[in-house]
Amino acid sequence: MCGIFAYTGSKEALPILLDGLTSLEYRGYDSAGIYISGADAVKSVGAVENLKKKSMEHLHGTSGIAHLRWATHGEPTEVNAHPHHDTAQQVWVVHNGIIENFKELRESLQATGAQFLSSTDTEVVAHLIARHINSGQSFEEAVTTALREVRGTYGIVVSYALEPDKIIAARLGAPVVVGLGDGENFIASDPSPILRHTKDVLYLFDREIAVITPTSHSIRTLESVPVLREKETIDWEVEQAQKGGYDHFMLKEIMEGPEVVINTVRGRCIEDTGLARLGGLESVAEKLRDIKRINIVGCGSAYYAGLVGEYMLEEYAGIPTEVEIGSEFRYRKPIIDSETLMLAVTQSGETADTLEAIREGKRKGALTLGIVNTVGSTIARETDAGIYNHAGPEIGVASTKAFISQLTAFALLTLFLGRQRGISISTGKEIIEEINRLPEKIAYILETKDRIREVARKYAHVRDFLYMGRKYNYPIALEGALKLKEVSYIHAEGYGAGEMKHGPLAMIDENFPTLAIALNDSVYEKVVSNIQEVKARRGPVVAIATEGNTDVADLADDVLYIPETLEMLSPILSIVPLQLFAYYIAVERGFNVDRPRNLAKSVTVE
Ligand code: M6R
Repeated sequence: MCGIFAYTGSKEALPILLDGLTSLEYRGYDSAGIYISGADAVKSVGAVENLKKKSMEHLHGTSGIAHLRWATHGEPTEVNAHPHHDTAQQVWVVHNGIIENFKELRESLQATGAQFLSSTDTEVVAHLIARHINSGQSFEEAVTTALREVRGTYGIVVSYALEPDKIIAARLGAPVVVGLGDGENFIASDPSPILRHTKDVLYLFDREIAVITPTSHSIRTLESVPVLREKETIDWEVEQAQKGGYDHFMLKEIMEGPEVVINTVRGRCIEDTGLARLGGLESVAEKLRDIKRINIVGCGSAYYAGLVGEYMLEEYAGIPTEVEIGSEFRYRKPIIDSETLMLAVTQSGETADTLEAIREGKRKGALTLGIVNTVGSTIARETDAGIYNHAGPEIGVASTKAFISQLTAFALLTLFLGRQRGISISTGKEIIEEINRLPEKIAYILETKDRIREVARKYAHVRDFLYMGRKYNYPIALEGALKLKEVSYIHAEGYGAGEMKHGPLAMIDENFPTLAIALNDSVYEKVVSNIQEVKARRGPVVAIATEGNTDVADLADDVLYIPETLEMLSPILSIVPLQLFAYYIAVERGFNVDRPRNLAKSVTVE
């Protein structure tokens, strides 16, 4: 989820582009770069502030392209920062998305003399376009031909030194918006950098290409069919635009759930053979065959994702697995050896306690892996290998989309290790089929958000909440309670539903509601009994149930439904209503959900 921005007009492009990058910064912040058409480029690692400190006196021109990177392929270094160019530095490209066939394209381009500088997937596009220009095609034809050859997703913007006023953009699976000004035009990944110049925009659809000059714009399809599109007028303010029109990043990030699962899974499932293809584990695949136990470490939501992972790994891969919070792990004497796999789960890749736990594991000879969202982060660098989440930057302090992605990554890891250890092809295929159905099922739950909001309003003023679930959904009870605590400041506790009689039931009365996850799975009847125990004490119950189950509705006060799926994948669905429930309660109580009091997004101190 990178940010792209381009300008062509009659003003100096550099300040406009820098300003635009600043308003896009929430989309990515590990490196930034600008190319002024026909002049030169400047790049830096880190936030836009670092870019602004670079010398830029030579960057004069009235059109250019700019980029903020959220790394997917290649470390966040200056050389990997966009814009990327061809060997002759004539074609410059910024890109948001993933070019899946970049390896084969790169080999073929290198064979004909192209010199690559970066380890990104994007650079192939610049070389590919240059190859077609050199074979006699026009700038526009060359972009079209190149894009027909790439597989993957892109929101892409291209500048060509010999036609400096012209900028070409295209979209497939990653957003592109064209801004229409007076004697100037813009392209961006969302309206936020455009809004201070013009409110008139055109949105590109997939497989469409836009060509802009200062005084013209046109759109056509990849098949060269002209498209006539009416402009739209946006009345959002910049901050609203950054949130995609949502009131908060937390809501935006919850709503990204389907896309997040798609991005985590993309290219990683082999349907025919029921296998997971995890490129980040290739270098340690043989070692992974020999590991005898797994220690998962994480903090907060990442720890709860690890607990779900434990259920998956033990049930399907048959590997003894323990999960621990980083801050505890580092201070005991864990039994670790060379047959132990230490697995860090972390969105930021910088959590101090998780990092120290991994370092301790390394010192004791364990193989270390990460499930990490932030490419190039400390934990990503210090682990032997790993799986990147590709969830995009998470801005809301409460983890939502990263958690969903972590659970999805655990499903892929389970498939990978399970198939190494004898899960059948048919079980592998069944898991993959169900993983592939998750995005539409999450989308279905998200469509019920008004109903979730209605229920949330009813409970927004309670003082305490108990969350209960069993087996795969026990960690989801813990995570649901954490979400509620951190954004609404309601006291909430998560319990394994079977534990109710061992203490928590004493708290239940008509003012102490319980949220119960009661899905049609192997523990359904047990959870129903636990709900009955609560109801017998006059406790109000909100249930998360499987679509079509009317028995739970008869028992509970309020029911939120989710579609049926494999039991091991059910947490990826059951967490969605709990995230929305916490969000709407917090909004109803009037709190700043994106910045809960006393909390930071990344905890880099012990
Ligand atoms: O960046 P990490 O995933 O390592 O962060 C771990 C926790 O700090 C994080 O999950 C925290 O609990 C969130 N605020 C939960 O919403």
